[in-house]
Amino acid sequence: MTAPLALETRKGLPEELRVLVKQYPREMWQGHANFGGLTAFWLDRHMMFRGLIDKLVEGSEIRLDRGDPRFGPELSRYTGFFLNQLHHHHMIEDQHYFPQFIPLDARLERGFEILDHDHHALDGHIHALAEGTNAVLGLIAERRDEKDEVARLLAAQRDFRRFLDRHLEDEEELIVPVILEYGVDDG
Ligand SMILES: [Fe+2]
Ligand SMILES: [Fe+2]
Repeated sequence: MTAPLALETRKGLPEELRVLVKQYPREMWQGHANFGGLTAFWLDRHMMFRGLIDKLVEGSEIRLDRGDPRFGPELSRYTGFFLNQLHHHHMIEDQHYFPQFIPLDARLERGFEILDHDHHALDGHIHALAEGTNAVLGLIAERRDEKDEVARLLAAQRDFRRFLDRHLEDEEELIVPVILEYGVDDG
């Protein structure tokens, strides 16, 4: 993926992929007759992911600010849940959810390529975040000072949040207008 469209550097969808979202801006989604249960559920999952990465960032910030005995157990539990669920979410999108939309609108084919690239990019970031988290948890388990490693992890978590926000926003602005235009939410 060329730099302007890569997840890590992209500022949003290119203009030619914003044709439908201009017709269906975010404010009108919920009230639209074609906005169904499956779309609402899917957007809720995105909100859950945003909430989880916020919680992880906040947990590391608090740990660096002052000690917190719940830090290790919560970091372990929330990171495990977050990364597993996110990986699963991408698989469902790639294998079941997106393929039904791709033939609907040839103008958006490029958009689905971008989302596919994002998922691969996020896979790499998921692995990096898991490794950084395990490094911190390993130090805690050995009762060694984990502070420097937490600072590194916090930087990775903040980067991850930025990449995930970019992906979710662009994905929503590509997919939801397609659903509204073609009435394909059967949930
Ligand atoms: Fe996605
Ligand atoms: Fe998604």
